[in-house]
Amino acid sequence: MDLPPEMLERAKKISSVIDKNDEVLVVTHIDADGITSGSIAKISLERSGIDCKIIFVKQLSDSEIEEIADTNRFTWFTDLGSGQLNSIKSAGIDFVITDHHVPSGDSEFQLNPHSFGFDGSYELSGSTTTYIVARILGRGLFAGNIDLSPLSIVGAVGDLQDSKEGMLLGLNRKILEEGVRAGVVKCIRDLRLFGKQTRPLVKMLEYTFDPFLPGISGNEKGAIDFVESLGIGVEDWKRWIDLAEDEKKRIVDGLVKLCIQSRTPFKMIKRLVGETYILSREEEGSELRDAMEFSTLLNATARYGHHEIGLMVCLGDRASAFKKARSLLQNHRKNLSDGLRLVDEIGITELENIQYFDAGDQILDTIVGIVAGMCFSKANREKPIVALAKNEEGIKVSARATQRLVERGVHLAKAIKLASEKTGGKGGGHSIAAGALIPESEVERFLRELDRIIGLQIN
Ligand code: C5P
Ligand code: C5P
Ligand code: ZN
Repeated sequence: MDLPPEMLERAKKISSVIDKNDEVLVVTHIDADGITSGSIAKISLERSGIDCKIIFVKQLSDSEIEEIADTNRFTWFTDLGSGQLNSIKSAGIDFVITDHHVPSGDSEFQLNPHSFGFDGSYELSGSTTTYIVARILGRGLFAGNIDLSPLSIVGAVGDLQDSKEGMLLGLNRKILEEGVRAGVVKCIRDLRLFGKQTRPLVKMLEYTFDPFLPGISGNEKGAIDFVESLGIGVEDWKRWIDLAEDEKKRIVDGLVKLCIQSRTPFKMIKRLVGETYILSREEEGSELRDAMEFSTLLNATARYGHHEIGLMVCLGDRASAFKKARSLLQNHRKNLSDGLRLVDEIGITELENIQYFDAGDQILDTIVGIVAGMCFSKANREKPIVALAKNEEGIKVSARATQRLVERGVHLAKAIKLASEKTGGKGGGHSIAAGALIPESEVERFLRELDRIIGLQIN
């Protein structure tokens, strides 16, 4: 693979360290990027004759690190670990890390895009970083594990790494191109809405909230009227993939016109059309065919504690685990739309430099960040949005910014890390999306502190 030489050296070193073991403990994150990262690690290890046990964690706190250290196993952290590098080292764990979160330092056992001048929020995900090492582990075997590239693309899309330009960029793009050349992924220009493979057209439009489609989002009759007004019949529940090219074009033109009329920001309109990644080996009309749908299916498993289901789908199950995942997906979609409705009800409070909503125990802490991101389709795009949700350990904070805010200096991971540490919590993430866990009694102080730090970043 065509990588900067220092990065390739690091990946080779990590691969050779892994290869010395007979068994490896893989520790990964509970989202789509984490599941695909963990799966890539597991498949590549087993293909190389190394036993693998995999565990999923919501976040890597000191207590989890202690528990991992107590197993005395060689550990491969995927899609997490970089923010906790020092704790991992001091716990005496024999480790390697393939992660893309803002790192707290560098190590010869860590592959992280940030250490090589790349941006981990859109140039490389946990899964594509892990894939780089898997490629080297698989040298000479299994055509170098190139068949795992589709899974890595699913992880990158799951982390919205293609949302900046409506396409994958940087090193992600190199991995994509490699998969395309190998015939395992296709890259097509298409509408970038969820459900093109699986949902009836009307439902696909009705359930789109990002971007918010005025008169259509959350409005079945509005969606039907819109489709019929373009001379397209809705009786036979056609899906997007069933439409003729000219019908697709009419819909795209109609959506663009509608968004312009309702003053949707130009950047959001532009993102309606872009690249879609197709997993060539999956059946047409299946959730697994489209990277966006596949990643949402995975989020619907591990974020609800059913990581084994998502993992089995990634490992190839197309029977009972896949069926279970599809029903979890229905539940996930419903939770997201209920979450958005709740935010409409409780409202978003604006401070000077940030805005927030407190979901209490009404939105699960593991999906509140997704809801926060979706709120941008309606909320003020000039301030980062901060969501609070109660969990068993305290208050989970999820923050999201826009690309424009990042360009103006906002770095959520840095701000959240500082504000949470000052109030007895811990956090991290990326410039555009970050999270933390803080004590319940400190919420007000945390918000004030975060508001202040974001103000400094913008100025
Ligand atoms: O922990 P991890 O890095 O996998 O999560 C990244 C998070 O950042 C995801 O929840 C993803 O949805 C979010 N993100 C975002 N907007 C972007 C890029 C990433 O909300 N433009
Ligand atoms: O949970 P959420 O989707 O809001 O996470 C956004 C980003 O912040 C992810 O990359 C996640 O790994 C990171 N995060 C973190 N520490 C936490 C919670 C989230 O680093 N306690
Ligand atoms: Zn990730």
